[in-house]
Amino acid sequence: MKLIIAIALFAFSLIGCNPSGPHLYVPMDGAGGSVVAGMLTYNGSIKAIFVQRCGACHGPGKPEPNWQDYNTAYSFRDKIYQWAVVEDKMPPPGTAQAAAITEGERQEIGAWIKAGAPEDAPSGGGPTPSPSPGPSPSPTPAPTPQPPPDFAPIQNLLNQECFVCHGNNGNSTSSIFPRIAGQKDWYVETELKAFRSHARKDNNAQMYMWGPASSLDDPTIQLLAEYFSTQTPVANTPGDPARAALGKTIFENGIPAQGVPACMLCHGDAGQGSGSAPRLAGQFSDYIVRQLEAFKKGERTEATVMPTFVQHLTKDDETNLANYIQGLK
Ligand code: HEC
Ligand code: HEC
Ligand code: HEC
Repeated sequence: MKLIIAIALFAFSLIGCNPSGPHLYVPMDGAGGSVVAGMLTYNGSIKAIFVQRCGACHGPGKPEPNWQDYNTAYSFRDKIYQWAVVEDKMPPPGTAQAAAITEGERQEIGAWIKAGAPEDAPSGGGPTPSPSPGPSPSPTPAPTPQPPPDFAPIQNLLNQECFVCHGNNGNSTSSIFPRIAGQKDWYVETELKAFRSHARKDNNAQMYMWGPASSLDDPTIQLLAEYFSTQTPVANTPGDPARAALGKTIFENGIPAQGVPACMLCHGDAGQGSGSAPRLAGQFSDYIVRQLEAFKKGERTEATVMPTFVQHLTKDDETNLANYIQGLK
């Protein structure tokens, strides 16, 4: 209700005022000429903002989720709201896109999401321009409740195989076995398929994972991915503080002179993972170093990103990064 009042007030007192309350919707004469929140639609104006301000990184064929696809943008709407409207974390501070996006565009995105993130105006004559906000938009889009997934079909597999090595719920206690609790579902799926096809072929992969993965069919893999991604990761013991401090610098800034990007750009500022990179936080440092070496040697042929720059990390850099990552929560 507050939102509706705010919109109505602004709509009536638009001309000549430049309200800049941080997250109130200020009607804009933006790309699509939208005037009130009730009319904001994806195809009408929001997509144009996504193309211009996000497209360099979130477009077709780009590494990050593609906001130029309505369904993708819709399913990420809460996070887009949080990162691009509330926290201004997106576009990433310091980039040209962050400098270019206007507060009005951020608010337009916010108002659209609050209105339920519609793709198009309801059919039947199109939107009627009116200063009143029209049919009341639901203030917060409630995510559709999903029935809890049924893990019964994989319970024996979990108990008899996965937990034996990866620990209960995937919170392994040995650095031979990576922690997989809270790992991104898409990544668990990719890796299980890579073990199954032998695309991931470092020594430990062959010795430990080729066997268990060989008998998994795709639906089982999906259920396993869903299971591990929804388990709560337990914090690990922090690594060596001096090394972790050096690692933190690379994690957050990369090594620009050597073309090494900041790890957090993809893996998240606390190593929590993203739509395009796995979770690293709390992973055993020895395991991290082994993987960076495996990327260097070309033993993880499923990988598309890490091999492009990992050659420029020295063994010392890797150890420092790994000590920092183990302490992330
Ligand atoms: C015999 C021990 C063993 C068993 C059983 C086992 N794993 Fe693994 N798993 C490993 C080891 C060791 C690695 C790391 C391989 C490497 O270093 O390349 C691994 C890696 C993984 C990875 C990749 C993690 C990452 O961060 O890249 C996933 C996902 C995974 N296992 C899932 C499973 C699932 C699901 C099961 C049960 C079906 C399972 N594992 C059973 C030992 C095991
Ligand atoms: C441009 C995005 C991107 C950046 C930047 C990036 N990564 Fe990655 N990382 C990935 C992706 C994607 C994967 C999955 C493998 C692949 O496709 O390369 C991955 C996988 C990994 C893995 C293997 C995890 C596992 O569980 O086996 C490690 C370790 C890793 N990255 C460390 C780093 C470090 C350290 C940096 C910074 C020096 C970094 N990454 C920067 C995208 C990125
Ligand atoms: C210069 C590149 C760049 C631009 C421009 C950019 N982003 Fe991002 N975005 C990223 C990277 C890299 C990540 C992954 C980082 C992470 O997860 O911490 C990301 C992640 C996100 C995520 C989280 C996705 C997930 O998988 O959880 C959202 C939401 C997001 N961006 C929204 C936007 C919006 C909205 C815009 C435009 C207004 C935008 N971004 C512009 C690079 C960019």
